[in-house]
Amino acid sequence: MDENALEFPTMVYEEGKVRFLAPALKEGWEKAVSPSGMPVFFNPHSKLSRDMAVLMVGAYFERKGIKVCEPLAGCGVRGIRIAVETGIVSKLVLNDINRFAYSLMKKNVEAAGLAEITEVYNLDANALLAAHSTGKLRFDYVDVDPAGSPAPFLENAIRACQSGGLLGVTATDLAPLCGTNPLACVRKYDAIPYTSPYSKETAARILLGFVARTAARVGMSVSPVLTFYRRHYIRTFVRLNYGKTLAKESLKNVGWMSECKSCGSVQWSSYLEDFKLCEFCNSIPRFFGPLWLGELTSKDLILKALGMACEADMKEAYNLLRKISEEIQTIPFYYRVDEIGKKLRSRAPKPASIVDRLRSLGFNASLTHFDGQGFKTDAPREIVEEVFSELATSEA
Ligand SMILES: C[S@@+](CC[C@H](N)C(=O)[O-])C[C@H]1O[C@@H](n2cnc3c(N)ncnc32)[C@H](O)[C@@H]1O
Ligand SMILES: [Zn+2]
Repeated sequence: MDENALEFPTMVYEEGKVRFLAPALKEGWEKAVSPSGMPVFFNPHSKLSRDMAVLMVGAYFERKGIKVCEPLAGCGVRGIRIAVETGIVSKLVLNDINRFAYSLMKKNVEAAGLAEITEVYNLDANALLAAHSTGKLRFDYVDVDPAGSPAPFLENAIRACQSGGLLGVTATDLAPLCGTNPLACVRKYDAIPYTSPYSKETAARILLGFVARTAARVGMSVSPVLTFYRRHYIRTFVRLNYGKTLAKESLKNVGWMSECKSCGSVQWSSYLEDFKLCEFCNSIPRFFGPLWLGELTSKDLILKALGMACEADMKEAYNLLRKISEEIQTIPFYYRVDEIGKKLRSRAPKPASIVDRLRSLGFNASLTHFDGQGFKTDAPREIVEEVFSELATSEA
């Protein structure tokens, strides 16, 4: 009997520049995959998330010799792709609590020619990360990619990152973050979610706010490099730096959003600002958060990653990065044309037409990748509604 034989059926996949083994998928997987029922987790639909990790590591680090850790690695394809496709990794640590994943990762590391620079573990992610939380044991890049919430792993992941390092985080628990299950959001993220048709961006901001608050607790600051929402998950990449003063500075980007139930206006305020009534009708608004109110991306790094995505022919990543690069960063909120249409009892113009018209009137406006029906603007709500009505009539 072959000692190294795997105890489940596998097949060879190709993603990016890597060929690897993962559990054989049932027919029709293009429509729906149920990775949780597999002996080892693998979701081909998460290619975009892995492409983005490859691009962000490539764009962020300007030197060779970086140490990378993937503490919840499944079949290992993410870490392996980062090492092979960026060519700047000198040490790769892959880990998974599932023993089948461990055996599979070892094979995939060997096949990718990375055995010399790679350590593979079969531990609880928190144990592995805690064992790398001091001095030279820390990593330059840690990628936390669980099925569900990253909350239980965040503090250890942050502590296992060097100052100046990069942390990638996925959250697939969109029901709590988007407000379908508010108490679960309070339990996991210590935050009240925004239950509304506009909740996708606030979900990402709650996640980012939680990363910033967790980092601040251990004396580190965060600067977002890229944050995006896609189908079943949210992903954020942040730069981490040591320093209590910097940590306090980054907390200035965390605060509250409020929505007036009478007139629908949305306002935001930082942690230390006084409680405000609705500035339009003086009603008591409903508050939610804490959440990140600052920018979600670093324009320079996105532009660099865009160039890399084009060269590597990563079309989906390229299109998403291009959309994000055109998005307004300073307004933590978007409108939806269908919702305004409902309120005004009018058919909805295209979001792009509203953006063009608002810009022509001198306002800042953009589409948003968070929502195909959405647009962002600094124009007051009355102007938004005026423009909406004008276009609804002229496009009819
Ligand atoms: C979403 S999958 C990882 C997918 C992988 N990052 C990729 O890009 O293909 C999450 C993995 O975390 C592993 N896992 C769950 N709890 C864990 C824990 N406490 N410690 C380590 N691994 C864990 C699961 O076995 C699963 O393989
Ligand atoms: Zn009001």
